[in-house]
Amino acid sequence: MPNTKTIRAGIAKLPKGPPLVIALTGATTGIGSYIIKTIARTFAKDGANLRVYVVGRNASRAQTLLKYGRETSPGSDWRFLQVSDLSLMSEVDSISQRIIKEEETSPFCGGPPRLDVLYMSQALSPMQPSNHKIKPNELPIGVPPPASYGVTTVRTYAVFMKTFFFEELAQKHAGRIAFTHIHPGLVDGPIFYSDVNPMWLRILWRVLKPLLSWYITSDERELGGGAYGVGQRGDENKYRVWNHAMEVLEGIEKKNSAK
Ligand SMILES: NC(=O)c1ccc[n+]([C@@H]2O[C@H](COP(=O)([O-])OP(=O)(O)OC[C@H]3O[C@@H](n4cnc5c(N)ncnc54)[C@H](OP(=O)(O)O)[C@@H]3O)[C@@H](O)[C@H]2O)c1
Repeated sequence: MPNTKTIRAGIAKLPKGPPLVIALTGATTGIGSYIIKTIARTFAKDGANLRVYVVGRNASRAQTLLKYGRETSPGSDWRFLQVSDLSLMSEVDSISQRIIKEEETSPFCGGPPRLDVLYMSQALSPMQPSNHKIKPNELPIGVPPPASYGVTTVRTYAVFMKTFFFEELAQKHAGRIAFTHIHPGLVDGPIFYSDVNPMWLRILWRVLKPLLSWYITSDERELGGGAYGVGQRGDENKYRVWNHAMEVLEGIEKKNSAK
C-alpha cells in the first residue's frame, strides 16, 4: 500500500483530471461520510467537475451532507437516492437501475453515461448457504457454522468472500474496472455504539476508546496502517467464492422474479 503522502498527492490531482461521477453507499454516517467530506473539500475549486450520488437510508443525515457538499464545492452536482435496506438484492438492483437511468437521461458534462467511482462502505456479502459443496470449516464461504457463529467469524467470512469475489470480477473485466479494498484499521464513528453490536462490545468500547485513541483513525487524524483479515489459504480455491456467490445471487434473482 502506498504511504499517506503519496495517496494524498494522487487525490489532489483528481479535480484537474476528467469530470468524475461518484456513487457512495453506506455514506450517511461514519467512514462513508468522512469520504464525502473529503471529496467535497478536494473539489472545492473544481465543483463543475464533480457529480456525486449518495445512496442511503437516513434522509435527514444525507441532506446535511449534501448541503455540506454543495457549499464546500460550489457548482458540483449532488444527488440523494433513498433506500430502505441494501442487504436486499432487489434494492441493490433497483438503485443500480436508478443510477443508470439518471446517467442515461443526463450524462455528466456531455460525456457518455458512466460511473467512475463506486465507494462501498457498507457492502453486501452473499452469506446464504448454497448447494456448492464446501466442507465445514474448509473455507470461510457461505454462512459460518452455528457453533462458531459470532462477530469475529462473520467478519472473517465477509472479508474472505468480498476479497476473492472482487478479485475475480477484476480479472473478468480487466481494463474496464479496478477495485481497491481499503482497510484503515479502526476508524472512530457511531458504529461502536450501535445496538447491532453485543452489549459487551459497547461497554468495552467506552472504556477502551480513550486508551486506543492514538491508534484509531478519525475524521481528523489518519493513523491506520492497514490490517488484514485474509491469509493465503484462499488463493488456490478462490473460484469457490465466485461459484458460491453466483449461485446465491442467481437464486435470489429467480425468487424475486417469481414474486
Ligand atoms: N469503523 C471501523 O473501525 C470499522 C472497522 C472495520 C470494518 N468496518 C466496516 O466498515 C463499514 C462502515 O463502517 P462505519 O464505521 O462507517 O459504520 P457506520 O458509521 O455504522 O456507517 C454505516 C453506514 O451504512 C449504512 N447502512 C447500514 N446498513 C445498511 C443497510 N442495510 N442498507 C443501507 N445502508 C445501510 C448506514 O446508513 P444510514 O445511516 O443511512 O442508516 C451508514 O451510513 C461497516 O461495514 C463496518 O463493519 C468498520
